[in-house]
Amino acid sequence: MLTPIKTICCLGAGYVGGPTMAMIAAKCPHLQVTVADYNPQRIAAWNSDELPVYEPGLKEIVASVIGKNLFFTTEIREAIRTADLIFVCVGTPTKSYGIGAGRAADLRYIESAARLIAEVAEGNKIIVEKSTIPVKTATAIQSILEANSMHGATFQVLSNPEFLAEGTAVEDMESPDRILIGGQSDPAGLAAVKKLSDIYAAWIPRERIITTNLWSSELSKLVANAFLAQRISSINSISALCEATGADVDEVGRAIGMDSRIGKKFLKASVGFGGSCFQKDILNLVYLCEAFHLPEVAEYWRQVVHINDWQKSRFVEKIVRTLFNTVNGKRIAVFGFAFKKDTNDTRESAAIHVCRNLLLEHAKLAIYDPRVDEEAILTDLQGAGVPQELLETHVHICTDPYQAVEGAHALATLTEWDEFRSMDFARIFDLMLKPAFVFDGRAVLPAEELKAHGFDVFSIGKGI
Ligand code: NAD
Ligand code: UGA
Repeated sequence: MLTPIKTICCLGAGYVGGPTMAMIAAKCPHLQVTVADYNPQRIAAWNSDELPVYEPGLKEIVASVIGKNLFFTTEIREAIRTADLIFVCVGTPTKSYGIGAGRAADLRYIESAARLIAEVAEGNKIIVEKSTIPVKTATAIQSILEANSMHGATFQVLSNPEFLAEGTAVEDMESPDRILIGGQSDPAGLAAVKKLSDIYAAWIPRERIITTNLWSSELSKLVANAFLAQRISSINSISALCEATGADVDEVGRAIGMDSRIGKKFLKASVGFGGSCFQKDILNLVYLCEAFHLPEVAEYWRQVVHINDWQKSRFVEKIVRTLFNTVNGKRIAVFGFAFKKDTNDTRESAAIHVCRNLLLEHAKLAIYDPRVDEEAILTDLQGAGVPQELLETHVHICTDPYQAVEGAHALATLTEWDEFRSMDFARIFDLMLKPAFVFDGRAVLPAEELKAHGFDVFSIGKGI
């Protein structure tokens, strides 16, 4: 007879740990769910009205369960001690030093979480990798746990990668395409897989909960992100050809997407994909391929990142060339800094690269994003290598889009926030210097309407 799970803890209260645990708590009122993180500001924010993560619908879910069966704490040891099942949901950024720098995943947070679990845990624990990790990490976690277990605890390690996308996290968790669980095929492994499946089965149909061996599960996560990013780089490469030929990338996307073998999703051309995961996970895949002596496979996937970098750079070049080959001292209004709409996350946002390169051309930027605050923007630009002097003299963060365009030579749209589609374009035209240039890096603005107002419009992937 399997003893059912009663208490869960999650190490890591980030973009994934907080929302996923809130959803589990809401769907499984019989479970006690504790999210533990050593960052006191983050935990305090989760316990306040100003959640650290903006996601449509998330606030309501957290409010419905916090203090009932969902708790956020910095008492990590206590959370581990009392949990039957522990999700590990810590960051796995790209390594910035030593062997594999710039490509391999930095697994130090995973390892320190495993060492802490081994030190504190008693009894039988199920450890679930939810972070995205290189294939075979479960072996490393298992050996760290076994070698360091202080109180004779036993461990079953499962892989349960997360597929939610930011901005749609709540609906993705509410109704996921699939839940993937990888585990060992011995009786103890199968029992652990069943216990985790039972948690998800509280709201997800059983046929959507698929189980595999550990390595397939770990690898599938990297491959899913690589395939998604590959589609964006594919359509972005075609956007350049559309601009050169007079074709329209949205029309091409629609035409090919109606072929059910290709599918409609992820065919929207952009200034480049961003986010904390696509680039990091592809680079991780590239590194794995190299480590397994598969240089051709590594090179194939590296091109996805290469095209993405090129797309961001060529957008900046387009702006500079169009503005008569100099943007020095010119005010450029930037609409959107988040890596996509409906999130306050800016990690690896294309806007960082575009703004940095425009600043290095000595443009003056007036940046407006409805959800990203000034501190985050300045920190990102500083981290991207913009000198402090330029930050102080050439960057102006605006809380109002019309303030941003006042006296601007150009407007660049870098995030597809819905509010940008229906602005008062006549007013914007009046506020800008002439000729009034628009560079729509998301092809979301009504180009014909803008042209009718007198704007000079460039939309990504539109040759006309
Ligand atoms: P994040 O940086 O927002 O959060 C990670 C948190 O872990 C931080 O708050 C950090 O303080 C905490 N942490 C680190 N070590 C810890 C420890 N030993 N104990 C407790 N807390 C610890 O990261 P994220 O965006 O939530 O991503 C987490 C993982 O999920 C990554 O592997 C990522 O690739 C993967 N993932 C992310 C997304 C996404 O949309 N962001 C989606 C799917 C998968
Ligand atoms: C992505 C995946 O979609 C999730 O399944 C995965 O769990 C997650 O990465 C992760 O592992 O972190 P996310 O990065 O949050 O989710 O958001 P996406 O919707 O995938 O968008 C990523 C980037 O691609 C954004 O910059 C977006 O603007 C861009 N994009 C997306 C396009 O340029 N065109 C498209 O057609 C779709």
